[in-house]
Parts: sequence; structure tokens; C-alpha cells
Amino acid sequence: MQLLFPDGFLWGAATSAHQVEGGNVNSDWWRFEHTPGSPAGVSSGDGIDHLNRYREDFDLLASLGHTAHRLSVEWARIEPAPGEFSDAALAHYRRVLEALRERGLRSFVTLHHFTLPAWFADRGGWLGPDALAVFDRYCARVLAALGDLVDFVCTINEPQMVALHGYLEGYHPPGVTNAVLWKRVGRVLLEAHHRAVATTRAHADAAPGLVVQLPVLAPAREDAVTRRYRDELRAEIVDLYLDALRPGAGGDWLGVQYYRKNWVDPASPTIFAPPPPGFATTQLGWAVYADGLREVLVRAARTGLPLYVTENGIATEDDAERVDYLEAHLGAVLDAIGDGVDVRGYLHWSAFDNFEWAEGYRPRFGLIAVDRAAGFRREPKPSAYAFQRVAESGDLSRLRATGVAVA
Ligand code: BGC
Repeated sequence: MQLLFPDGFLWGAATSAHQVEGGNVNSDWWRFEHTPGSPAGVSSGDGIDHLNRYREDFDLLASLGHTAHRLSVEWARIEPAPGEFSDAALAHYRRVLEALRERGLRSFVTLHHFTLPAWFADRGGWLGPDALAVFDRYCARVLAALGDLVDFVCTINEPQMVALHGYLEGYHPPGVTNAVLWKRVGRVLLEAHHRAVATTRAHADAAPGLVVQLPVLAPAREDAVTRRYRDELRAEIVDLYLDALRPGAGGDWLGVQYYRKNWVDPASPTIFAPPPPGFATTQLGWAVYADGLREVLVRAARTGLPLYVTENGIATEDDAERVDYLEAHLGAVLDAIGDGVDVRGYLHWSAFDNFEWAEGYRPRFGLIAVDRAAGFRREPKPSAYAFQRVAESGDLSRLRATGVAVA
């Protein structure tokens, strides 16, 4: 098996604003967290105080061999009221992006990562009458203000999951469970992506791309009904998005985000069935299936776009499991490259233990631990050093090479 990554391959980790910054009080998510009976039982509170600590955080990531970093800018801070843009918030993000540049980290900047301004949600969110125009106005403002400091624009984070979690499963805002609206929202988000690509080209030099979550979907049983239901879900969650992307109007690259294998069961009230007994699972009960990353990269390559893995990671209290996960999933990336797929970088989810949406702070996705009760102290885990050895050498066989100096 090939163990070397191509020259120029980008290495890093990803975060999103609401999950790390803290105090995102003008957002729909903050309100969702603070609504009695909400599926999100915990306040994001101060996050991990990244809003104030981004410089030391980037120092740490650069010292750990990262050459790229993915973050999001927060719409609810930048446009706290309709049409009213905060120069201070935009100036903050300029300082953030300058700090990345100063440390030699390439930037992947997400324009929309799950959170909306509360006022936008009140107007109907993505289903509001002027949603696309309002989002486009926000994108134009952000790109005009920050575009010179951005390398890669991630237009919309996981549109399929925004639609699925928010409009079918109902555990993200707006908490709706309606199959008609689920399908509608996905199509609106695809349109929003295409507009954001055009807006990026008009205002910035950055390369725009969509970042999609691509799960492996398997039928829970081998009967025709279950298989057909799996095909329907795959068409709606995967094919709808990938088939819409054409090099050019669809962006310059595609971000692949991969976590798990899902078993689809039409008889299950939760859409997905639990993994079969004996399957390795994470702290969140997600099935670990590394070959799936190769499978989804091969599928994504059919778009004709160059690929970056923009999220991949495991929730676990046991960091040794994260090292195993990294080894298996980076191996799957190499397998895909061996298949001829053009994969140009890998951004792990996540840089830090952070706010995992409706699950609060319990799941530990980070390469770096954060003790929120001890002054937000950061401490890289052994997996962060394992990742560093691969990032700095480009050689997967160095992952466990403790005690050996990196060339
Ligand atoms: C999201 C992240 C999230 C991660 C783990 C992705 O769906 O983009 O915000 O924390 O998965 O659940």
C-alpha cells in the first residue's frame, strides 16, 4: 500500500464559529439552546473562548505541523440586524485571517456553518421569501471585506445536513419534521451555493467550493423495500448535490466530509437503524467504517472537481482510538489517491474539543483538549502529535513513530 501523500498536500483541522467562539447571542442556535424543551439541552456559553484566543490557537496549530485551517465567519455577528453590518465584526475577522497568514496557514473560510442570525430565522429562514437575496447580500459584504485574505471559500456547510437535521429529524433549528420542507430546503441551499460561487468570483480571488457530508448508506436488510428506501435517501442526500455541481458554476473544488456508515431502515422511527452488533462505534454511537472514506471520495470524484477532505474525525474519550481512526482514514485517503482520485488536502474534525450542537460539550472530537473549567487551558493529545508526524513527513508510516525526529 502506498504510504506517501503527494507534494503540496494541505494538512490541518477545522472548526466553526458557533462551536468555538462563544457568546453567539444573536443566532438561531443560541435561542434554540435556551428554549425550554429544546433538543439542544446545553448552552454553548463561552464556547472555548476562541473569539479571544485565536492567536494562541493558531500558534499551537502551526507548531503542530498544520499548513491549512478551516473556520467559519459568523453571520449573526456580521449582520446583527437586517442590512446592518458590523464593521467591528468584519475587522475582527480580518485580524483572524491575518493571523492565519502570518503563521503561514492557508485559509478555508465557511460563509454559513449551521447558524443563522435570529432575525433571518424569524423571517422564515431558508424558506423565507427573500432568503436567497439576503444571503447573497451578506456573502457580497463578507467577500468584499475579507476576500483578499481568503484562499478557499466554503460556501455552505453540509446543506444536506442543514436540511436533514433541521427539517426532517428536527434536532437542529428550526426543529421541523416535514418531508416536503426537507426536500424544499435542500434545493434552496443548492441555489444559495451557486449564487455564492458567483458572488465569490465577483468580489474575491479565493477559490469557491461546496462542502458536503457524504455518509455511506447501507440497507438495514436485503429486501426490495429497504433497498429502494436506501436508494431514495441516497438520491436525496448525496446524488442531488453531487450531480448539480459542474466545474465552474458549481465551484473550483469540492469538500468531502465523512464520519460514518449508516444503515437505512424504513421501519425505524429515526430513519437510520443502529449499527449491527459488534460494529465499532464512537462516543456518539456512530459506526466506524474507514473504507467508506475511499468510497465517497471515488463517488465525489465523478463531479470532475479536485477534492479536499474538509472534515473527518471521531468523538471519543479514548485518544488511542483517535490515532487508530486517523491511521485507517488517512489510509483510505491514500487508497483513493491510488485509485486516481485528485485529493489535495485533509482537514481533521476538529482542532479542539468543542460545542457539538445538540450534544453539547460531552463528545470529544478534538486533537487538542480544552479544559473549560480551568481557564480554557489547551493541551494537545497524543493524536495531535501523531497527526503532526504525518503532516510534516507526508508519510503515513510515521504516525506511530514516537521518539523518532521528524525530518
Ligand atoms: C459538522 C460539524 C460537526 C461534525 C460532527 C459535521 O456535520 O459540520 O459542525 O461538529 O459534523 O458532528
